[in-house]
Amino acid sequence: MNYAEEIRKLAKEKGALILAHNYQPTEIQDVADITGDSLELARKAKDAKENLIVMCGVYFMAETAKILSPEKTVLCPRTDAGCSLADQLTPEAVKQAKKQNFNAPFVVYVNSTAATKAECDITCTSANAADIVRSLESSTVLFGPDSNLAEWVQRQLPEKIIIPVPRGGGCPTHCKFTAEDVIEARKKYPKATIICHPECSPEVQVECDLVGSTGYMMRNCGDKDEWVIITESGILHPLQKKYPDKIFHVTESAICPSMKFISLEDLYISLRDGTTKVEVPENISSRARKAIERMIEVSK
Ligand code: 13P
Repeated sequence: MNYAEEIRKLAKEKGALILAHNYQPTEIQDVADITGDSLELARKAKDAKENLIVMCGVYFMAETAKILSPEKTVLCPRTDAGCSLADQLTPEAVKQAKKQNFNAPFVVYVNSTAATKAECDITCTSANAADIVRSLESSTVLFGPDSNLAEWVQRQLPEKIIIPVPRGGGCPTHCKFTAEDVIEARKKYPKATIICHPECSPEVQVECDLVGSTGYMMRNCGDKDEWVIITESGILHPLQKKYPDKIFHVTESAICPSMKFISLEDLYISLRDGTTKVEVPENISSRARKAIERMIEVSK
């Protein structure tokens, strides 16, 4: 069976919108209606006119889409596609940190569970983290679960006191990159501009020329001819598609296993059978929605 063709046929028949993250397998990105970073996908899910959304990404992305569009059906082709970063911050840890810090506002990275978001004041993505923290009146801000992203924001906003919760939280895929990798890449590709994702360690970030989300990379890689891209290697496909005349070097082994779970067959079955419908309990959804909508409002 030609799954890609069947998927497009089914999507048309059922009036479905297929969203895919920039790290998804190439064949999933190619069959999707829209690809993007986590902020762009959240916005598209909210504004979609379609009543059926299929989210190809990791589970928190599908959960975010459902929270923003409770009246729509949101399908997640593989509910086992988790995010180990999201699992590093529990709702209890948020409550405890707030209690210990005079109820300081908690900025939670979208890479978190709905139940954790529900306890937080506002969400952020790697594309808008500094703007979100800047928008808060409080000089002390709790931030989690990604400590590297927290440090990146801290460097941009020295006037704020940012407390990472938990200390040392991070994405295993991005934490594998080292400063030596960047130094080596610079020797190997002396003409290239080096950009890393803010989930990389501060030691990696300071060695790079630029730091930015996958959406930032997609928007800005037209500016120079040669790039070293330090993030999950799935980004190579949309970059090459958008900028065919540029040279990109990625680390092929930098792979988020969960981002590669969804196959064309999974997506086809999901659309055909309407599986698996994402549900978020109303008492969690309504509170998490406030935190996500507040972020969308600030980053308009
Ligand atoms: P972006 O917001 O840059 O797409 O990153 C999402 C993510 O999960 C990075 O690991």
